[in-house]
Amino acid sequence: MADKEEPKKDAEKIEKNYYTDVPFKTNGNFHVKGAANLDWGMKKHLTNIFNPKSGNTVMFAFDHGYFMGSVSGLERLDILIPQLIDHVDVLMATRGALRTCVKPNFRKGIALRVSAGSSMINDDLSNELISVDVEDAIRMNADCMAVQVFIGAPGQLSSINNLSRVINAGVRFSIPTLGVIAVGKNMERTSQYFKLATRIVAELGANIIKTYYCEQFDEIVAACPVPIVVAGGKKLSEKEALVMAYNSMQGGARGLDMGRNIFQSKNPVVMADCIGKIVHNKYTDKEAWEYYCEKTKPKK
Ligand code: R5P
Repeated sequence: MADKEEPKKDAEKIEKNYYTDVPFKTNGNFHVKGAANLDWGMKKHLTNIFNPKSGNTVMFAFDHGYFMGSVSGLERLDILIPQLIDHVDVLMATRGALRTCVKPNFRKGIALRVSAGSSMINDDLSNELISVDVEDAIRMNADCMAVQVFIGAPGQLSSINNLSRVINAGVRFSIPTLGVIAVGKNMERTSQYFKLATRIVAELGANIIKTYYCEQFDEIVAACPVPIVVAGGKKLSEKEALVMAYNSMQGGARGLDMGRNIFQSKNPVVMADCIGKIVHNKYTDKEAWEYYCEKTKPKK
């Protein structure tokens, strides 16, 4: 007979333990978190993204045009991208930007934006669809397909549908999926929110997650079984952006996926190099800032 006793309303909360000091246990001998059991093709693409020596990546995000148009700093992709290409590991972009403004002979990773559907003039940006077929991602030799995920927003269901369809197609053709955790005007940016969103997206099968840095970041990383790369967000001062990058890496991020804090800098190439020093060469924010100052000081 069913127990009709009312559940205790004030049941004691069970405290969580993220074991942030215990390294991820099931990586085998592969350098990308959560990827040990994937096939050769997936691992090859992930190696095009994450440097096997450091295990980390500097992704340069310039996919903003897919909903923001020509934001400041990205007015002329054909001029900017060739300058930066040698200073980053991965280009994160739309197929339109890549095909028109990037020569196909570059030897870096590609994170191909495959979701779209809104623009800056919409109040709600969370209704997207899949705009790129997996066949075109294959033709472009994409190393991962990037999909926006809107947890807690009106478009949550459709974005999870998009994510799942891209993951399913990616699994068929061994192309990893990058789940991009979206934050809208009215959406929280708390560690509670990012813990929820990153874990949902990882459990649905994304191989990489892009999210924002926040407090308790090490717990978000510990609870997420795939690598997290940190978004740059709105332009900060160069010094602040380097602190954020350093804190992210200290918290367990496997890299940065940074846009505006590189391309809106007065010195985008030096800024990209500084991020690389933090991500691959264990520079502190202070050392990276000294490097920035040294490289940008006026010549006598
Ligand atoms: C996410 O919404 C898109 O990928 C953005 O274009 C990208 O994350 C923006 O990068 P950032 O915030 O560093 O300018």
